[in-house]
Amino acid sequence: MKNLNLFLIGLFAAVAFPFGALIVSSQVQLGALGRAPAEEGGPLFPPREPGLAIQGRAVYLQLGCVACHTQQVRPAGMGSDIARGWGARPSVARDYVLQSQVLIGDHRFGPDLANVGARLTEAQLHEHLRAPSSVVAGSAMPAYEYLYQPKANGWAPTDRAVALVAYLKSLRQDYASPEAKLKQ
Ligand code: HEC
Repeated sequence: MKNLNLFLIGLFAAVAFPFGALIVSSQVQLGALGRAPAEEGGPLFPPREPGLAIQGRAVYLQLGCVACHTQQVRPAGMGSDIARGWGARPSVARDYVLQSQVLIGDHRFGPDLANVGARLTEAQLHEHLRAPSSVVAGSAMPAYEYLYQPKANGWAPTDRAVALVAYLKSLRQDYASPEAKLKQ
């Protein structure tokens, strides 16, 4: 072919330009996004994650929770997430700006966990992890009983369970954001 080089350059440009534009346009739109106060002069949201929650995120990944749970509440017109009580408002990009690893997930075998820290107490979370079927009859969630040790009158969480629950408690989207107001 006479103009092979030209053809290859054209082919490269046809792939590289749209791909580059995708990256550059996301960076332009969201790159400078940071924390913001819910009302003028108020505290900044999202809050910083406690160190224990960061350790707990590693446990969440190791145990494969992300395979069954998402962390994104869809807007009211796009699904029944809010009607089901999974969130007080839709998730927005700002909610994730401080997270080093964003575990949005892509399969919903169980409920969305974006706001689970506001929904369940520490004790409820431990109980759910240790014995899901004692909370929801016939639960399809695996029991993580090996994260607990029996003691005289109940169960003692291991360090991994404590970190995991600290992470789950840090998952909350119950503050107003400039992009998404809380439902009244
Ligand atoms: C095989 C899929 C599967 C895996 C893996 C899984 N879950 Fe679940 N999870 C479910 C299902 C299904 C439910 C709903 C039934 C129930 O409440 O037990 C659920 C419910 C929950 C709930 C209760 C949510 C609510 O709103 O009541 C929490 C919290 C939870 N899972 C956390 C976890 C964590 C943390 C892990 C990882 C250690 C995990 N899950 C792993 C399937 C899974």
